[in-house]
Amino acid sequence: MSNNLPLMSTYSYLPVNLVKGEGSYLFDDKGNKYIDFTSGIGVNSLGYGDKDWIQAVTDTVSTLQHTSNIFLNEKTLALSEKLVEITKMNKVFLCNSGAEANEGAIKLARKYSFDKYGLNRHKVLTLKQSFHGRTLATLTATGQDKFHNYFFPFPGGFDYVEANNIQDFKNKANNEVCAIIMEAIQGEGGVHPLNSDFVHEVYEICKEKDILLIFDEVQCGIGRTGKVFGYEYYDVKPDIVTVAKGLGAGLPIGGFLCNEKLSQTFNPGDHGTTFGGNPVVCSGALVVLEKLCTEQALKEIEEKGQYLKSLLKNIPSPIIKDVRGNGLMIGIEVTVPSSEIQKKALEKGLLVLTAGKNVVRLLPPLVISKEEIEAGARIIECIINE
Ligand SMILES: Cc1ncc(COP(=O)(O)O)c(C=O)c1O
Repeated sequence: MSNNLPLMSTYSYLPVNLVKGEGSYLFDDKGNKYIDFTSGIGVNSLGYGDKDWIQAVTDTVSTLQHTSNIFLNEKTLALSEKLVEITKMNKVFLCNSGAEANEGAIKLARKYSFDKYGLNRHKVLTLKQSFHGRTLATLTATGQDKFHNYFFPFPGGFDYVEANNIQDFKNKANNEVCAIIMEAIQGEGGVHPLNSDFVHEVYEICKEKDILLIFDEVQCGIGRTGKVFGYEYYDVKPDIVTVAKGLGAGLPIGGFLCNEKLSQTFNPGDHGTTFGGNPVVCSGALVVLEKLCTEQALKEIEEKGQYLKSLLKNIPSPIIKDVRGNGLMIGIEVTVPSSEIQKKALEKGLLVLTAGKNVVRLLPPLVISKEEIEAGARIIECIINE
């Protein structure tokens, strides 16, 4: 379908032109006010207009907007230090998006395997219904057939495991496999948290076979689920973790972290990116970590998520099949098209996301208040009752 905008027709635009944000609210060019249950698809974790984030970003932009990665700067170093401290990982590579983070994680895993085992141990397992990005490799990693069209040839070296099917994993975890990548909660795939037993068994088998365990925390990481990382719900330790979205709070960032085992895998020239670790973006991200990755903030996110889920679960309607997720990453599975609910919500002053045809996805700013949660839930109830 084409549009008459100067933009390529890659998105189905909703009929709203946003001009301003304040806290957990957005305003359009006609003066309409919306409660935001999307946060720019999990990006605006601090909402709109956080004073400390703005201060940090504007201070840095007026002092040093960019340096090449052949030089060091204190903002990039400060963020990296904080990231490895909070996550208890060993090293980080900073880039610009989730796809770029996953692409780098795949390269890191393959290099580790090549150095240790030589050629032919390069396969990366991913889960069906997953989403890992739009570059050619991450699109191939994405375990959904609908994304594997048009852009042939796709890169080789990927295989797909049914989520929560440990036998399928065992069958595919052969000696060509160097890594498995998975989301603790499959976001785009319909907001499906993985089963605990599955994650544990995968973890044990990975340790035994030296298969690297990569968690894609692009959507569910950095406090979104009420823990720093979604995988913490499973008490496992990945070798590589990827981040993006909410870490930037509105500016583009991505990154992948590795444990000590992989800390010496990359050498100068093995990987790089011009904008990665940009000091402006890093100073904003540091504020995000300081504000959201504290015990108190995470507890509040978890409680607000429970509260929103309980409000939604109490809506008496056969249209709602399931309400699931952790923290403020919530999916409502419905028997009607989720896009219809999204349109009606927009008319009533609430912005929501979809995840496939039948799941309404809610990713509010992590600083949203209880009152705003109640107001949003009331709008959803009203739409469902209609
Ligand atoms: C789990 C996951 N991984 C990767 C990506 C890709 O991130 P980006 O759009 O920043 O490239 C997304 C985006 O939605 C995602 O949800």
